[in-house]
Amino acid sequence: MVSEPTTITITGAGGQIGYALLFRIAAGDMLGADRPVRLRLLEIPQGMRAAEGAALELQDGAFPLLRGVELTDDPRIAFDGTSIALLVGARPRGPGMERGDLLAANAGIFGPQGAAIGAVAADDVRAVVVGNPANTNALIAAASAAPDVPAERFTALTRLDHNRAVGQLAAFLDVAPDEIADVIIWGNHSATQFPDVAHAVLSDGMPVAEAIAERLGGRDAATTWLDEVFLPRVAKRGAEIIEVRGSSSVASAANAAIDHVRDEQLGTHRGWTSAAVVSHGEYGVPEGLVCSLPVVSRGDGAGYRVIEGLEFDARGRRLFDASVAELAAERDAVRELGAV
Ligand code: NAD
Ligand code: LMR
Repeated sequence: MVSEPTTITITGAGGQIGYALLFRIAAGDMLGADRPVRLRLLEIPQGMRAAEGAALELQDGAFPLLRGVELTDDPRIAFDGTSIALLVGARPRGPGMERGDLLAANAGIFGPQGAAIGAVAADDVRAVVVGNPANTNALIAAASAAPDVPAERFTALTRLDHNRAVGQLAAFLDVAPDEIADVIIWGNHSATQFPDVAHAVLSDGMPVAEAIAERLGGRDAATTWLDEVFLPRVAKRGAEIIEVRGSSSVASAANAAIDHVRDEQLGTHRGWTSAAVVSHGEYGVPEGLVCSLPVVSRGDGAGYRVIEGLEFDARGRRLFDASVAELAAERDAVRELGAV
């Protein structure tokens, strides 16, 4: 039996990540080969021609699952009846812009979009924020959608950081990425994030930390590698990509957004993944912050559930606390703006 099409809204659809996302969603990479999709592309007037071009190419792809593409610059039309929202469009940091200016500019985008989701989206709507600063933009959107949509329906993307961490470990240990489970990204999608391998295991059951120590000839050398190579490489990978490519990550970001929504909707498989979710105080994170934590999904419509009860050593706790402090400072800044 063919199911009803799922309505999916992509904001910033005329941008780089939008272009990398649309064709994979239309091809069934996100929701599976049995779920038809209807796409709504939200842009600002300056981005509309690029989105129109993408829509023409979507038609030319003759994707069997694609049941329509609509373009608009009105959030109320874009989110009307939508079940999945990928909030990609954001204001990038311009010359001379301070962090506070960036937060204010994005509050002006994610506030109205959250309000529109609250007003017109489908009852089962879930939104993932990709546009930076992603965690705090998600906080703003969730606050603006309340009380019509529960805050838990809003998440922010740290799957790219998770995938980057797995990619680094796979290359170092010379194993396939899917042989590595239970890596965690804790905290903010920023350079303060804490990529943690303390619970990570290989498919034969060997702890990743032990495999690193075996390769380097001891635990001390493994700790040094984790501190001096692995952690900065993952946490600063966004900046490295910008330096090498000349612009921020695109295909890997779109791939991570697809992984995030697919796992949230259809379920995680082996072990957990990482996503920035609304805190209920887990691991001492102040309630309401949108913080990256280890999560699983059963694919039953309930979304991501936090894995609780994991232990930190002193180093881990210190690194996680620093990232949470940054999230709290961002929340305080947008509170001062009246955005949450
Ligand atoms: P881009 O500049 O190519 O595209 C952004 C698009 O958003 C533009 O077409 C612009 O017109 C549109 N836009 C701006 N304001 C809008 C609004 N109010 N409503 C709808 N559309 C709007 O940028 P990109 O490379 O596609 O990146 C998009 C965002 O994703 C950036 O903020 C980037 O920093 C972020 N990003 C996040 C991650 C992550 O892992 N969370 C990774 C990579 C990039
Ligand atoms: C990334 O992680 O690639 C993006 O968030 C870009 C950035 O500014 O780091």
